Amino acid sequence: MGVNIKGRSYLKLLDYTSEEIRYLLDLSKQFKNMKRNGVPHKYLENKNIVLLFEKTSTRTRCAFEVAGRDLGMGVTYLDPGSSQMGKKESIADTARVLGRMYDGIEYRGFSQDIVDELAKYAGVPVWNGLTDQFHPTQMLADLLTMEEKFGRLKGLNFTFMGDARNNMGNSLMVACAKMGINFTACAPKELFPAQWLVDEATKIAEENDCTVRLTEDVNEGAENADVIYTDIWVSMGEPDEVWDTRIRLLKKYQVNAAIMAKTNPGSVFMHCLPSFHDTKTTIGTQIAEKFGITEMEVTDEVFESKKSIVFDEAENRMHTIKAVIYATLS
Ligand code: CP
Ligand code: NVA
Repeated sequence: MGVNIKGRSYLKLLDYTSEEIRYLLDLSKQFKNMKRNGVPHKYLENKNIVLLFEKTSTRTRCAFEVAGRDLGMGVTYLDPGSSQMGKKESIADTARVLGRMYDGIEYRGFSQDIVDELAKYAGVPVWNGLTDQFHPTQMLADLLTMEEKFGRLKGLNFTFMGDARNNMGNSLMVACAKMGINFTACAPKELFPAQWLVDEATKIAEENDCTVRLTEDVNEGAENADVIYTDIWVSMGEPDEVWDTRIRLLKKYQVNAAIMAKTNPGSVFMHCLPSFHDTKTTIGTQIAEKFGITEMEVTDEVFESKKSIVFDEAENRMHTIKAVIYATLS
């Protein structure tokens, strides 16, 4: 039977089968081809979506806006200062109001419970644009980018270096397990993903002939890797006080040329972005002044190297988000 996800929310990858993810990846490729070849695809004219952001964004917001407009839809953006949600109106009430006006709702914010609650009450598909726990739209872009680069997903060796218990580490572990990619979280023990999620991902990986491994050893993490992935050391919503401990814990997991040299020939570097690879940002400058480091999770050398495919990855946010919108609304 063909895949049909019409009417479904997209809250976390754990809710989707490998076949459904495959379907979304194939659909993303079709949309990417259409966009590249200038083929119009306003398939969802007269529909409207709303984007609710309680945290800042460049890629996710722009990807939803462009994808929505390419599909012919009306798009409303609400930032934390311009809606009643949370402060004067509960999540459930907000969901029921927006669900009466819009065909789909994107939400970026803090706890996963909020996006789950929106989905429970909205009556229309809700798409998770990042919570503290998961970042599922990023996953499709990452999988698509790897498949474009290697021509396959199954059997690749993927290593996530850094804060492995955050939204990106969690989501990548599940994404790899679902698609037959061997996953390694290379991090200090304090930042390993939660045990329940490791158990769940391991079970899924066994069904898909791949593995989930956790290691503190940087050499072990780098050796035989086809993909080295990292993310910022302090995520949105975390207090500034954690920088000190985080830098101490993660310094040796910085992705640098020595680490990349241990990986497989043909390996690539990936990052969801934004990234602190230099001091050309306000926070980058502040951290350099306070802690004396000018590059954080990745060196500028690796970020700017031929192995880095971070901007292909960023572009693919739009094509994959378009596939999610289209598949869940039509
Ligand atoms: N990767 C990502 O989600 O980027 P933004 O925070 O800019 O949306
Ligand atoms: N872990 C990062 C991901 C940003 C896309 C954050 O939550 O800030």
